[in-house]
This record gives sequence, structure tokens and C-alpha cells, in this order.
Amino acid sequence: MTQRTLLITGCSTGIGLACAQGMAARGWRVFATARKAEDVAALQAQGLEALQLDLDDSGSINAAVNAVLQHIGGTLDALFNNGAYGLPGAVEDLSREALRAQFETNLFGWLELTNRIIPVMRAQGHGRIVMNSSLLGFIALPYRGAYTASKFALEGLTDTLRMELAGSGIHVSLIEPGPIESRFRANAHAAFKRWIDAEHSAHQKQYAAQERRLTKEGPAVAFTLPAEAVLDKLIHALTSPRPRARYRVTVPSHLFAYLKRVLSSRVLDLLLRKAGGGGKR
Ligand SMILES: NC(=O)c1ccc[n+]([C@@H]2O[C@H](COP(=O)([O-])OP(=O)(O)OC[C@H]3O[C@@H](n4cnc5c(N)ncnc54)[C@H](OP(=O)(O)O)[C@@H]3O)[C@@H](O)[C@H]2O)c1
Repeated sequence: MTQRTLLITGCSTGIGLACAQGMAARGWRVFATARKAEDVAALQAQGLEALQLDLDDSGSINAAVNAVLQHIGGTLDALFNNGAYGLPGAVEDLSREALRAQFETNLFGWLELTNRIIPVMRAQGHGRIVMNSSLLGFIALPYRGAYTASKFALEGLTDTLRMELAGSGIHVSLIEPGPIESRFRANAHAAFKRWIDAEHSAHQKQYAAQERRLTKEGPAVAFTLPAEAVLDKLIHALTSPRPRARYRVTVPSHLFAYLKRVLSSRVLDLLLRKAGGGGKR
């Protein structure tokens, strides 16, 4: 059997790295991408085929896709869209520029990359596209507005894409993880520092608690799983003859999907305000 091929974004750390290593160990030819040259070098040092791909930069997306297609003769079996970050902060503290930056990485870059790959998959008559969404792709939490908006938008585009590609041989799946061990909180803290003027905010007091959560050593909440928990779902999405539309990962993801179906918005809000640190001021 010929070796199956997979392109993954955001492989410097966390879920992307675990999935690149895990799929390579299972015999896939993985193109692990990262946006920084030093991370590309580190991936190569581990024996992975690595390339630079910055989702904020169309030129970088194009160059990476061209290089991968050249390596493997114009075909690609699968794409795992993964690289993203969270920008914490109250909605009223989000500038247009900050929200735009969040969407550039978490949505527009993913769409641009996906749309480069779809014609390749159409031409070969098969393909798998997997989007790493989040529990926050279907549930909102206080102080996660920018990230939640980007993942809700991703879910809307992905559900649409799945229907539009029905019958093409290209399967589209969403993975919806809850809390996973990675550098996600550290990177979110850096984004918070860059974009949010905490000192002059009406939410100043709550931001102190948010910063404690973002800088806490070890898991910040219960039911946190290692990145390999996502790998299990990715394997199913890439190899099952009937991949699912959605894969939930962690107890909170399953629980909140259920609660969203059975609770009123009023009751759900009360629960989520508590969970997200957005209680009474
Ligand atoms: N951890 C969680 O609890 C959790 C839960 C639900 C969903 N997710 C989703 O899982 C995915 C991976 O996150 P993670 O938990 O593994 O976090 P992570 O350890 O912070 O990894 C995020 C990856 O995305 C990359 N990235 C950020 N901006 C990028 C850009 N402009 N171009 C290319 N890559 C970029 C990062 O690269 P740099 O190192 O260069 O910044 C890093 O490789 C994300 O889509 C996230 O939304 C995570």
C-alpha cells in the first residue's frame, strides 16, 4: 500500500506536535508545519518532515502548499487544520484590530489553506479534512469572546463545507476538545498582554483571576487530558470508512454538548458565568 500523506498546521507544541508524532509513528508521511524557523528545525531534528507555514501570511501558506505538493507529486490524502491561539478578554475590551488578528489566524488562514487543498483532493477523488475546533466552538464562556467567535465561525464554515463536499469523496470532520495540556494558556496569556488594556478596563478585577488561571502551573481545570486524547479522534477521522462530523474530547465537551440541548439559555448562562469567571462584579 502507498504511504498516506497528511499536512498539519501548528506543530511546534501541544496537539499539533502530538498528532504529527503519532501519525508518523503509524506509518503516515506527515508534513509537520510550524510558523517559526527554530520550531521547523526542532521538528526536523526529531526526524519529521517539517516546513514553515504561518497562517497569518498568504505567501507562507502558498509556499508551504507548493513545497508539499512538489514533494509528493501533486496529491495529498489529508489536512489537519490545528494551529491557533486564544485571545482572552471581555468583549467590550476587544479592539477591531485585536479581533481581526484572532480571525486572521484561527479562521481566515485555515480557510485559505483548505481552499488550496480542496482542488487537489477533488482531482484525486478522495481526501480528509479535519478541523480542530473546541468546546468553545459550541459553548460561549465569559472572557473568551474573540476565541469563541472564531471557533463558532469555524464550525459554521465547516458544517457548510461538509454538505457542499458530500459525494465528492472528501470527508470533513470537526474535533471539539475541552481542556488539553499544551502551551495554549501560555500563548493566550501573551495575546492578552499584547491586546487587552486591563488597567483601564471595567473588568480589571476579573482579569486578575483570569491571569492566575492563564499562568497556573499544571492543569487549570479538572478533566484536563493530554494531547494524545485528540490523536485518537484524529486517527478515526482519517481512517474510518465513515468518519464522524464531530468528535468530542474530554468530559466537559460531552457534558456541555448535552447541557446545551437540555437547559434554557438562562440556566446555562448561570452555569457558564461561574465556570468562566464571569460572575457578579
Ligand atoms: N489546549 C486546549 O485546551 C484546547 C482545547 C480546545 C481546542 N484547542 C485547539 O487545539 C489547537 C492546538 O492548540 P494547542 O492546545 O495545541 O495549543 P498550543 O500548544 O498553544 O499550540 C498552538 C499551535 O498553533 C500555532 N500557531 C499559532 N499561531 C499560528 C500562526 N499564525 N500560524 C501557524 N501556526 C500558528 C502555535 O505556534 P507558535 O508556537 O509559533 O505560537 C502552536 O504550534 C488550536 O486550534 C486550539 O484552538 C485547544
